[in-house]
Formats: sequence, C-alpha cells, structure tokens
Amino acid sequence: MEIDELSGVGEKVAEKLREAGYSSVESIAAASVNELKDVGLGDTVAVKIISAARDSLKMGFETGLDVLKRRESVGKITTGSKELNKLLGNGVETQAITELFGMFGSGKTQIGHQLSVNVQLPKNKGGLEGTAVYIDTENTFRPERIQQMAKALKLDPDETLKNIHVGRAYNSDHQILLVEKAAELVKEYNTRLIVVDSLTSHFRAEYTGRGTLAERQQKINRHMHTLQRKLSDPFNIAVVVTNQVMSRPDIFFGDPTVPIGGHIVGHTSTYRVYLKKSKGDKRIARLIDSPNLPEGECIFEVTGDGIKDADSKD
Ligand code: GTP
Ligand code: MG
Repeated sequence: MEIDELSGVGEKVAEKLREAGYSSVESIAAASVNELKDVGLGDTVAVKIISAARDSLKMGFETGLDVLKRRESVGKITTGSKELNKLLGNGVETQAITELFGMFGSGKTQIGHQLSVNVQLPKNKGGLEGTAVYIDTENTFRPERIQQMAKALKLDPDETLKNIHVGRAYNSDHQILLVEKAAELVKEYNTRLIVVDSLTSHFRAEYTGRGTLAERQQKINRHMHTLQRKLSDPFNIAVVVTNQVMSRPDIFFGDPTVPIGGHIVGHTSTYRVYLKKSKGDKRIARLIDSPNLPEGECIFEVTGDGIKDADSKD
C-alpha cells in the first residue's frame, strides 16, 4: 500500500510526508502526532493519518505469538570474527541500533565496511542477502577497502560496491536529511544494514560551547529516533552508528568509556560496544549495558582481509 492510498492523505500531504522521509505506510504508523506536526500537518490531520496507517497495518494490540514471530524475523549479520559475533549474541542484529564507540583507530570504520560487505552474503554464511546504506560524515568510506574485503570472501568486488549506497553528509542537517531519504531506498534495494559513520562528528563540530549542549543532545536523540522508528523497525534493518571518544583530561579522571554523544546516545542504542586498540592489529571489544546479553569482552583483529578472529598462536 502506498501512502497516498491512506484516507486523509491527498496529493499535497503525500508530498509533504515524502519530503520529510515518510515514504511508507510503516513509517507513518510508527510516527507520533508531534512528528507529523513538524512536517507541517495540522493536529487533526496528523491523528487521522497515523490511525489510518495503523489500521491498515493492523497495529494496536498483538498477541504474544505475533511478538514472537516479529522477533523471529530478526536477522543477524556476521562481523567476520566468531568471538565478536558471540559477544553480540550471534552478530549484529536487525531491528536494533548498535553503537560502536572508541578512540581513533580503534576499528569503528573497519567494522562498518566489513558489515556492508557481509550483509550481502548468503544466509548460511552469516549474511542477509541484502544491501547496505553507508552514511559517511568524515569522508572515510574507501571503495578499495570494500573490494579487498569482498575478494577475501570470494564475492565479486564491483557487484559488492554496487550494493552499497554511499551518502556523503556535509553537515549535521545534511546527515539528517540523508537518513530520511534512505527511507526511499530501503524497500527497492532490500537494504538490511545502515551504517552512520560517524553519528556524532558533525554535531560535535557544529554545537560547541556550553549553551548548545542540550540542543545538540536533543538533535542527536531525534536523529537516533528516526533511525530506529522510520528505518530499523519497519524494514527489519540493522543500524550501526559510530561515535568517537577522545581522551580528554576531564574524562581521564572519570569513566574513560563515556562517549562523546553523551548518555543520550547510549540510551537510544540497543547495543553499545566499546572498542579499544591493543597490540598490533588486535582490538578489544567490550559490550556495555545490553538489555539481554551478558557484559563481556573479546579480542579480534583488523587484517588486510578484514575483521577476523585474533590468531591464537601469538
Ligand atoms: P576514527 O574514525 O578516527 O575515530 O577511527 P576508527 O575507529 O574508525 O578507526 P578505523 O576503523 O579507521 O581503523 C583504522 C585502523 O585499522 C588503522 O590504523 C589500521 O590499524 C587498521 N587497518 C585499516 N586498514 C587496514 C588494512 O588494510 N590492513 C590492516 N592490517 N589493518 C588495517
Ligand atoms: Mg572512522
């Protein structure tokens, strides 16, 4: 069903909705009245449209069995490392946001690249036979690196690149817009992974100074909300966001694992993984504050072929 088939949605309203990224009935059903008011709709119209969308999807109460079925549709994407998969409960999950945070060079971007390749793998190899969207805010997306990783998995390097839609975000507003635009892509291309690398860098650069902190957190929070409600949930997509932690004197004396985006980011992501550089190519991953998995640590390696288990010999 298309959004203009919903009762209460005329041509003009449909256009407004699409422009704001509400391109599917699912995304409208998951919206709040205030969110639609921000698009420029009146109160009554917003209420009417949301309930029409929910009715058409038979949303409201569901049985425990329905919940179970939805949970069964959750997919997992292999990271390339068995240990890291195990830490995450079998890989990176769809219908969830996984936040990778750590200092520069800790492997956040490398994992983002690897997942964009791995999501394309057949299901029996740990993939979801889907495509990826990569929102690149730091200009660190490297097609050559994707080709290397694809070759290592015996995938066609150029086909693999074709299945990754890269959006280069020039500032935080553009980043927000790209995520909203992604809603138009995901159905057509069977997108099963969205990487936002980095979630926080533009916000951090643009909202400096004490007075702007609350606004920054609010914007990041809303952005995360869009990712969860307009993309991850309705389309069964795994969302992976990166967040750089800097070593700052004030953090030195407190918790060194506090991410730049602050606790707001932490609260909205389902899984939070702290990454740390170790000897050579080795990296340490620690799962923090997970709702359903035990906290724990593992070691993996960043190699020429991509993310791998650490060689147990050394
Ligand atoms: P920031 O974005 O700066 O916060 O860092 P990040 O966490 O995204 O780091 P990234 O994932 O870019 O990791 C970069 C590191 O990965 C490099 O310092 C290398 O150690 C490693 N790396 C990248 N490419 C290769 C490769 O082809 N071979 C090997 N062995 N290591 C690589
Ligand atoms: Mg990076």
